[in-house]
Amino acid sequence: MTRWMAAPLLTALGCAGGTEPTSADDLQARMDDIGLLSHFEADADSAAAGEAWLWGETTGTWGFPMAGFQALGLLDGAGVLSVVDVYDRLKDQYGFLRNPADPLGAPVGVRPVDSRLQFTCLSCHADRVAGEVVIGGSSGSVDWEALGTDLAVLANIGNIEVPLALEGFTGAPGTHDAWGLGYQLAKQQVPAPDINEDFGYQQSPAWWSRRFKHRLYLDGSGSTASKRTMAAMYLGYGASLEQIQAMEPDLDDAWAAMIRMPIPQWTLSTLDPELWAQGEALFASTCAQCHGHYSGGADRTFPDRVVDVGTDPIRHEQMRAEEVDFINASWFGEDAPFEPTEGYLAPVLHGVWATAPYFHNGSVPTLWAVLDSSTRPEVWARTGHREADYDVEHVGLRYDTYDEPGDAPDATRVYDTRVPGLSAAGHTVGDALSDGERTALIEYLKSL
Ligand code: HEC
Ligand code: HEC
Repeated sequence: MTRWMAAPLLTALGCAGGTEPTSADDLQARMDDIGLLSHFEADADSAAAGEAWLWGETTGTWGFPMAGFQALGLLDGAGVLSVVDVYDRLKDQYGFLRNPADPLGAPVGVRPVDSRLQFTCLSCHADRVAGEVVIGGSSGSVDWEALGTDLAVLANIGNIEVPLALEGFTGAPGTHDAWGLGYQLAKQQVPAPDINEDFGYQQSPAWWSRRFKHRLYLDGSGSTASKRTMAAMYLGYGASLEQIQAMEPDLDDAWAAMIRMPIPQWTLSTLDPELWAQGEALFASTCAQCHGHYSGGADRTFPDRVVDVGTDPIRHEQMRAEEVDFINASWFGEDAPFEPTEGYLAPVLHGVWATAPYFHNGSVPTLWAVLDSSTRPEVWARTGHREADYDVEHVGLRYDTYDEPGDAPDATRVYDTRVPGLSAAGHTVGDALSDGERTALIEYLKSL
């Protein structure tokens, strides 16, 4: 089952706000109302077409040779794999998500076209949260590092055209250097020796947050009106610039789908109205100046604040005027120019319960640890993606800790916060709170 449900109404309803909810039903009504605000209007038909396109109606025969993936079986004596076996391996070994709607068993974000395998947006923009597929969240489930490592081994056995090179692309599960890969590939077409190719590691802001803000990307360097850069990653996935340009109408539709995208709602526990109200008040006094006001009728606003709160700086520091000018001089920057910033966009917190791990680099496993920096693990690995692996109390991922990544059963699945680009430092605003205040704040965050 997916959480991509019917598109919600986009009109902002008036809401009382400010008073304590009188019952669980009253609280539910407020939660339903909270998600309805938007800066934008998007056409319903366009959004439906965009949803279909994102699920797989790709155009063009770009992608990677299927034979390269079939050869993965040579690594462990299974021989050349059938196409169905390739799909099973992508799911069982590399964490791609099951797509019950695909008759041949291709995972979410993977499409066969002729003798090629296309990876699409959803290979990076879908996740399994508490056992359920969530579209538009981040990509915590796919193990790009293991896939890249196995493909590199294959290249050394010889004579096999290795389909995709991911050298230096992944840092830890669910976080990778999408910008770095994009710049690396763009520079192969437009020489630019002084342009950075290392942007630390990133995980994407949730797609459903787009309609509440004006700035796009983790550092707010883009504009929510821009559409073209969304597809820049397809350069890394084997599409040519011309093939990407031909997708422009599809990107318009994908934009509309994001603008109308529903927010995943917390159903993992019943919320306590009293605790929620205490959390709402704390949020208004301590957090809203950066993250926005979510309840309170007409006062609901998102400030689009870009600020340096001491989290890992590499991603925003590397996007300098030079890198921005490079995008703006290309087709990708023409529809809405980028600008350099000096920090990260304080994220929209709608559906934040479903976007763990936290911060732009996915370095912190739970909301509790976001709000109490002394509890952030240094070297950790999530226990899995099942409902039992979701930590309902601290909100986020259950995890094991290690002294060194090599101590874990699978070192490619370990998050090492000592590595540059993966630091879990900063955003210590919650450290001054008591445990009781943290519990209340988290009760409120669950409802957004
Ligand atoms: C290889 C993985 C990958 C692929 C494929 C990919 N993305 Fe992304 N996407 C990312 C990452 C990582 C970010 C965060 C980058 C940043 O802001 O620094 C991102 C950011 C975004 C954002 C910005 C969200 C926000 O609110 O700031 C949008 C929108 C987006 N991607 C759409 C798409 C679409 C549409 C496609 C397919 C055409 C796509 N992406 C393909 C990894 C990917
Ligand atoms: C001074 C501005 C500021 C204040 C105040 C602030 N935050 Fe943040 N917050 C940020 C920024 C910026 C980020 C992004 C940091 C990054 O990704 O590296 C962030 C990230 C987060 C995240 C992670 C979201 C995600 O999807 O990864 C959560 C949760 C969060 N803040 C909650 C809170 C709460 C709760 C409070 C109040 C106790 C608060 N913040 C106060 C600026 C602020």
